Amino acid sequence: MYSPSPSRYEHLSTAFNRCGNSGVLLPKVSLGFWHNFGADAPFERSRAITRYAFDHGVTHFDFANNYGVPAGSAEETMGRLMDEDFRPFRDELFISTKAGYGMWEGPYGEWGSRKYLVSSLDQSLRRMKIDYVDLFYSHRFDPDTPVEETLQTLVDVVRAGKALYVGISNWPLDPLQQAVSYLRDRDVPLLIYQGRLNMLNREPMDNGILSFCREQGIGFIAYSPLAQGLLTDRYLDGIPADSRMAKEHFLTSDRRTPQLLSYLKDLQQEAASNNRTIAQEALRWVLDRQGVTSVIVGASSVAQLESNLQI
Ligand SMILES: NC(=O)c1ccc[n+]([C@@H]2O[C@H](COP(=O)([O-])OP(=O)(O)OC[C@H]3O[C@@H](n4cnc5c(N)ncnc54)[C@H](OP(=O)(O)O)[C@@H]3O)[C@@H](O)[C@H]2O)c1
Repeated sequence: MYSPSPSRYEHLSTAFNRCGNSGVLLPKVSLGFWHNFGADAPFERSRAITRYAFDHGVTHFDFANNYGVPAGSAEETMGRLMDEDFRPFRDELFISTKAGYGMWEGPYGEWGSRKYLVSSLDQSLRRMKIDYVDLFYSHRFDPDTPVEETLQTLVDVVRAGKALYVGISNWPLDPLQQAVSYLRDRDVPLLIYQGRLNMLNREPMDNGILSFCREQGIGFIAYSPLAQGLLTDRYLDGIPADSRMAKEHFLTSDRRTPQLLSYLKDLQQEAASNNRTIAQEALRWVLDRQGVTSVIVGASSVAQLESNLQI
């Protein structure tokens, strides 16, 4: 029987941010299940990281339909964790999932049609063994589906009780602006935008999305705040065999350039002068950007998460 730490909310007033001008508080550090939680990862390690997170006030778990290897298996891990550990604490959790990228064969398995989004959300709920998600995202903008079809589907999944809030991830600014007014007019205001923001990728600052969200009272949650591990000490002395880069898939070894290593050495010095690790300095930097509600970190060990929470 899992019994979470009674002190998990002892830093409630400082460890959470309000998400835009909504009623939702999100932990400054959220946990992402993209890597390290699928069927290819040891279940007991996934369980230990997830429990550690919840024990330390990380109430927000971020999924997408296709997370894990094979795709969908991170949500299945969550389903097992719901059964074995977390069901009594469902109301303390803020669980998000997304649909947009390729999930199954044929014409209805990706992008932004009503057909795909509704089927995908139903599948996610079955895999996670929950009745509703707290937040459902469109994972990417579909240039070939009428934007109203995608947005009306977001409205309808809320009306159907399958999601409490809706979010948008990776959309360009123009359709995002359209989405904000469409959703607001239908009383399902956009809760949050999810975009990649870290010291090596400042796109949401450069393209105006971060400031637009702030002005509109919409939360912004940053994914890959550690640039998938580049902004840590992980690759300073080589490529560890158990690292994401060693798999040469989403993070390839050509990213480990002499310029990056020299940037990291400087960052390491700056971090040390603030009594922080490189990762802690990088997370602090993202959280200090005005308008950022939370960072979604990944972790392949409890020790990584433990260190990342000490910011
Ligand atoms: N909306 C989207 O399109 C989108 C895209 C990407 C991600 N996301 C979300 O954002 C989440 C986080 O993405 P991410 O995994 O790329 O985030 P990240 O936090 O930038 O990178 C996580 C990786 O960094 C390494 N790491 C973490 N803490 C460390 C530490 N203290 N010391 C050394 N290494 C450390 C680990 O690599 P090793 O595994 O090598 O140990 C870990 O897997 C995802 O799980 C997902 O929920 C969303």
